[in-house]
Amino acid sequence: MQDGLTRTARIAGIGGYLPEHVITNADLERMVDTSDEWITKRTGIKERRMVAEDESIVDLIERAGKGAMDDAGVSPEEIDLFVLATATVEQPIPSTAAIAQPRLGLTNAACFDVSAACSGFVYALNVGRQFIATGEAKNVLVIGAECLTRYLDWTDRATCVLLGDGAGAVVLQPAQPGDGILRIAWKTDGNYWDMIHMPGGGCRVPPHQPRVIEERLGYIKMRGNETFKVAVRALTEMSLKVLEQAGVTPADVDLFIPHQANIRIIQAVGARLGLPPEKVYTNLHKVGNTSSASIPLAMVDAIADGKLKRGDLLLSTAFGGGLTTASALIRY
Ligand code: UT7
Repeated sequence: MQDGLTRTARIAGIGGYLPEHVITNADLERMVDTSDEWITKRTGIKERRMVAEDESIVDLIERAGKGAMDDAGVSPEEIDLFVLATATVEQPIPSTAAIAQPRLGLTNAACFDVSAACSGFVYALNVGRQFIATGEAKNVLVIGAECLTRYLDWTDRATCVLLGDGAGAVVLQPAQPGDGILRIAWKTDGNYWDMIHMPGGGCRVPPHQPRVIEERLGYIKMRGNETFKVAVRALTEMSLKVLEQAGVTPADVDLFIPHQANIRIIQAVGARLGLPPEKVYTNLHKVGNTSSASIPLAMVDAIADGKLKRGDLLLSTAFGGGLTTASALIRY
């Protein structure tokens, strides 16, 4: 079941944080031409969270990260690597991980960001476990955090009803073969980079150019229906790939926690994998799509609900902008 690595990493602690302010579908009905019925039926989302005016992504990172370190019984000074997955940076320079480092008290850690959109958490997990496998790190903090509402066009009903803010964190520690992260499969197909993107604010159209405001380039754009179809195929294929690499079948999986993008995508992938609905975990009705925070936040809820227990075989697969896909098979 194990891959070529002689050592791997286990999830020693987990934490999550959601901002307090709730945006319901009824709130959105007052902002754009939409309805609770449409959003519920087409996405499964009932509400999502939004950061307060005086909050930002670093506040979410601090709460989630401290929760995971407490849960693992690890002090901040013991963390030797911090990998942050985010698509919604605090500011373009420096990395958001560096800005968050003092707040987390990580005095001995190298810190950097991973940019892989909704697959970011699984990508960061894969980066973190490599450093544990080589023996270069003993305690790795991996966080997926997003302030998506700051990059949302509140006049675009096709995106503003989907996304929400939040952060989820894990502490990785060395594990015996057969325990912890067993396999991760990942892939990027940059041919579709513009399916989900934000055109303004980078080198091509710098943030100070008037075009950014005039042409509304500083917002997340998505070709939703095309993305939907690619997502179902990619999530299914990457899930099957990681299972095959590990020499197990969907029937061996105790719980499937996919990226929480759309209930119809999740149900379609669950059915293609032949998983019974009780093995497919969802919490997107109360958080929406939180991109890189989605899987760790769903894990936190699944643990609280008694659905994910130590020793369970967990399959987690994500898909997002890039286009990126990644699937992790974990003996939790
Ligand atoms: O996080 C990873 C990446 N993202 C995703 O995985 C998202 C993938 N895509 C989706 O979840 C779905 O495609 C959406 C939820 C975004 C859209 O659902 P859909 O069933 O694919 O709808 P559609 O885009 O085909 O649009 C159908 C209709 C359109 O109206 P017309 O042209 O048929 O008159 C849209 O304008 O629904 C309209 N529409 C809405 N109506 C009410 C789009 N958004 C809304 C809305 N409320 N919020």
